[in-house]
Amino acid sequence: MKILVTGGLGFIGSHTVVELQEQGYEVVIVDDLSNASISVLEGIEGITGIRPEFVQLDLRDKQGVFSFFQTNQDIDGVIHFAASKAVGESMQRPLMYYENNIVPLLNLLKELEKKEKAHFIFSSSCTVYGQAEVMPITEEAPIQVALSPYGNTKQIGEEIITDVTRVSSIDAILLRYFNPIGAHKSALIGELPIGVPQNLIPFITQTAIGVRKELSVFGEDYNTPDGTCIRDYIHVVDLAKAHVAALDRLVKGENIEKVETFNVGTGKGSSVMEIINAFEKVSGVKLHYKIVDRREGDITEAYACTRKANQVLGWKAELSLEVALDSAWKWEQKVRKH
Ligand code: UD1
Repeated sequence: MKILVTGGLGFIGSHTVVELQEQGYEVVIVDDLSNASISVLEGIEGITGIRPEFVQLDLRDKQGVFSFFQTNQDIDGVIHFAASKAVGESMQRPLMYYENNIVPLLNLLKELEKKEKAHFIFSSSCTVYGQAEVMPITEEAPIQVALSPYGNTKQIGEEIITDVTRVSSIDAILLRYFNPIGAHKSALIGELPIGVPQNLIPFITQTAIGVRKELSVFGEDYNTPDGTCIRDYIHVVDLAKAHVAALDRLVKGENIEKVETFNVGTGKGSSVMEIINAFEKVSGVKLHYKIVDRREGDITEAYACTRKANQVLGWKAELSLEVALDSAWKWEQKVRKH
């Protein structure tokens, strides 16, 4: 089985390539290198012993996507990661986000609908739920008006896929990720944020190593036990394995519907202060941090109900928060040595 992984040199993409290869899938990576380094190929090869095929391509290029599928007619499925993902940036540059996150999706689906059978896995986000009223969040929770163009592209992406699967041979699974963190245990691949990290864990590891002076904790007056926001942090390797489970389901034809949706989280919520404490414990480093005002657009809490993924996909997050934080810290130390 040959699988196209778009954005396969990125954070979640590269970890998924490793898990796919370890399960015997042949992988072709397409990446435009706009937010990833070609050196990730070496990291993947270092772990699995297999250098995946790589094609540098901007998926907004309709003709380029057409040509790619002409020369790669044996592709059985696509896991589509390639997208822009910075919420703040999407507020500043909405058109860029709609173009980067929607046009490639259309170009891929146009090629896939020509096939007799195609499997498609889409990177969605728990951001589609907004501030859900009930915790843990089930897949039935209502979709709320998106707070950012980034979030909107995930909602629109889900709708486009749902419409297309209805009238084509494409079967799809939408995976709604909670907060992916950590790195492969080999420390050969991990997250490589460009510039100042917007996400909590890279900011913590960069502060611990001395690249950032101190961490700002965005608000301690939320309606949570310690006043800081609660999220469901999932190890990226567990998340990668969820993609393989989803793909296996489509490949074996076990899916009941043309498009199915799963939350991918641990089911456990952790507050920002709990993360800081856990990080200090696993790293032995005292973190400099200060409490500042809330960040605009942040929700109070989000954690997943994982029952559907557990029962239907037969997948469960296995790695602890401590293991995830330890791997993120080891990765940061490794990156700074170079
Ligand atoms: C963000 C996005 C989400 C996206 C996800 C990808 C927003 C509003 N949401 O989720 O759509 O899918 O990233 O990973 O941006 N925090 C601090 N100090 C920091 C950074 C973060 O206190 O320097 C806090 C935040 O207030 C939040 C938690 O840490 O409570 C997690 O933040 P972050 O890692 O940015 O993820 P989300 O905001 O949950």
